[in-house]
Amino acid sequence: MYLVSPTLTNDYANTMFRRERMHDGWLDICASYLQHTFGDSLQGAKVIDYGCGRGDWALAFLRAGAKHVLAVDAAIDNVRRLHDYCQQHEIDGIDIVHGDLLSQNIASDNLDIVWLYRVLHHISRPSALLQALRHLAPGKTAQFYIYGYDAGSLRQFTVDTARQLYPRPNEDAFRLESVPLTRDARRRARNDLTAPHIDWYNAMEFAELLSGAGLEPVAHAPGLDAFIQGHCNQEFQPHQALCRSVPAEGAILWSEPARSYTDDLAVLSAMAREVNFVLTDQPTRMQAALGLMNTHFTHLGSGISCSTAIFELFLYLLHVLDVHGGLEQAEGLAYDFVELAEAALSDTARAHLAAASHPSKLAQTLCNNTIRL
Ligand SMILES: C[S@@+](CC[C@H](N)C(=O)[O-])C[C@H]1O[C@@H](n2cnc3c(N)ncnc32)[C@H](O)[C@@H]1O
Repeated sequence: MYLVSPTLTNDYANTMFRRERMHDGWLDICASYLQHTFGDSLQGAKVIDYGCGRGDWALAFLRAGAKHVLAVDAAIDNVRRLHDYCQQHEIDGIDIVHGDLLSQNIASDNLDIVWLYRVLHHISRPSALLQALRHLAPGKTAQFYIYGYDAGSLRQFTVDTARQLYPRPNEDAFRLESVPLTRDARRRARNDLTAPHIDWYNAMEFAELLSGAGLEPVAHAPGLDAFIQGHCNQEFQPHQALCRSVPAEGAILWSEPARSYTDDLAVLSAMAREVNFVLTDQPTRMQAALGLMNTHFTHLGSGISCSTAIFELFLYLLHVLDVHGGLEQAEGLAYDFVELAEAALSDTARAHLAAASHPSKLAQTLCNNTIRL
């Protein structure tokens, strides 16, 4: 059975958190988000912040009115950092535990709130973890906030493609190799490319995972970005479920988030397969992965749709194939779109080409515009 080693988990935690500092303003925003999400039930609550990382949420729970927080993380350096911070700032009310519920029991009182934020995608046995967490909060009124990465998103495409080209650099390698990345791309790459393990869930898989652990979603929690900015981008819409133990009053069906780019993803995936096939040496693969991250995160924009990012990702993959002699080798859907793109580059007739009738927006854009690489 695949289990992530403690050394890898710690190296990953240091890549993410070694240079992250706690900011008062940020903790206030997190505390407002918790109050908005849990309302009065937060007052005096006993909470577990599982996979607490730097400990922002554990601290925010206390600020928002929780009585006690059990902060657990499998990475020893995270535990040290939070411990030092609490000591320096004379913070009581947080028990900090180095541990992993996949391999050990963790003692606690009956908890009121289980907070599993940005952790599930790292967990190799998610059902076992959720069941263990449920046992820590056996009461009927206990609330579980479960966050999961969304399969089928544009984010998944870019992260999976980049991870395949540039498999899991360690902390030192990543610091050096990520120098060409823009700040947004670097922060995302830090979290998603250096992680030992990432799983993505579609709505049905997520709902089944919850019900297998005896949990049912009763509400969609608002996304943190949407809470702060007032809107979210279709690029990445993680599952954020407020759950209760089965049978839960007012349980809801968990559905797929709205996405308008599924046909475009098929084209990008076909292009990415060609890139993965054509690039054989490690430095070139790493360069392509970093370029992909830069392209994705510099073109997201602030709107809901990701059409600019999708178009730019397509042009980027086309460019990589062009530079590395891969255009002639492309097959299937990738061949069709390379052919359409060649026509858009030279502004020749293209309505008769196979890709012109593809249902994606990319096909329409390439039919109606000229392009430059
Ligand atoms: C992406 S970070 C999220 C940290 C924090 N929840 C946040 O939102 O800022 C994931 C955290 O989960 C921890 N982690 C990964 N696997 C774990 C496990 N099996 N048990 C406990 N913690 C784990 C990592 O060490 C890391 O701190």
